[in-house]
Amino acid sequence: MDIKTRVLMELKGADSYVSGQDLCERWGVSRTAVWKVINQLKSEGYEIDSVTNKGYKLTKLPDILSKSEIESVIPAGGIVNKVIYFDETDSTNTRAKLFGEEGMADGALVVADCQNMGKGRRGKSFTSPRGQSVYMTFLLRPDIPPVRASMITILSAMAVRSGLREICGIDTLIKWPNDVVADGKKICGILTEMSAELTKINYVVVGIGINVNNKKMPKDIENVAVSARMLTGREQGRSLIIGSVCKWFGAYYHKFLSTLDLSLIKEEYNKYLINYNKEVEIVKEKESYRAKSLGIDDEGRLLVEREGKIEAVLSGEVSVRGVYGYV
Ligand code: BTN
Repeated sequence: MDIKTRVLMELKGADSYVSGQDLCERWGVSRTAVWKVINQLKSEGYEIDSVTNKGYKLTKLPDILSKSEIESVIPAGGIVNKVIYFDETDSTNTRAKLFGEEGMADGALVVADCQNMGKGRRGKSFTSPRGQSVYMTFLLRPDIPPVRASMITILSAMAVRSGLREICGIDTLIKWPNDVVADGKKICGILTEMSAELTKINYVVVGIGINVNNKKMPKDIENVAVSARMLTGREQGRSLIIGSVCKWFGAYYHKFLSTLDLSLIKEEYNKYLINYNKEVEIVKEKESYRAKSLGIDDEGRLLVEREGKIEAVLSGEVSVRGVYGYV
């Protein structure tokens, strides 16, 4: 952790002034080094009050993303052990996959303020404007059979749900397998990609896109998408959301790794599943039909009742809609 992150964490953690002298002694750095970092933070938009003989106090925390800001909110000892931040990149998933190919260790988090080639599921693009949303990707190397990797998508949706509840106070539901929905519209999408051999995973990347401070959504998706700001009427701190999602992701991922299935998460997931016990439309490549959604099983498959028989639907092969539209 560099000195900027340390100073930022000290300022965030204090309710009063933090003395410059204390910072120097604690971190073994010069006064000039601290002063430089304070100026750097100010130039990035942090409002810091400096008073002679008292020290520094953070008076306003704007919605800023930077490597230091993200590091300052990542839970210590958790799943994330490295943060890679881009002001702009093609796609955090593409970057994470390249890092995976280069041998980067398990537990890296890639974040961008803007993506110019954001990817959605089924080859769609994911519009990723600057300064508004969260674009984050975990690089993981779980020692699990490749067929189990899709379960990580399911638990990621739970992590986003919990993070949005904790930081923004928004109650969301989940549209199986991986959309997080509020007020009947999508607030988050998740794209999991994997590199694997027959029996061994090389790496998995879990990309999460959350609409946070968008004042409105683009015309073509305004009926089906919403942001945290539109729901709460106030600006939200993207870094706080990232930190909370990392915390919850770690907790659910730990549960998953302890059983290698979703048995410890299933009940909670089904509680928040949109259309639970209701009629849905299952859209497969060659056919589509109506069935009653019964929730996920231990493997994350959606169980549906069709003409009195129970079937398990796999996430890769279908799209599920409520019978009246997006949800
Ligand atoms: C979907 O809803 O279709 C999935 C959207 C996934 C978007 C996220 S944003 C961060 C990561 N990088 C990408 O290019 N895509 C995912």
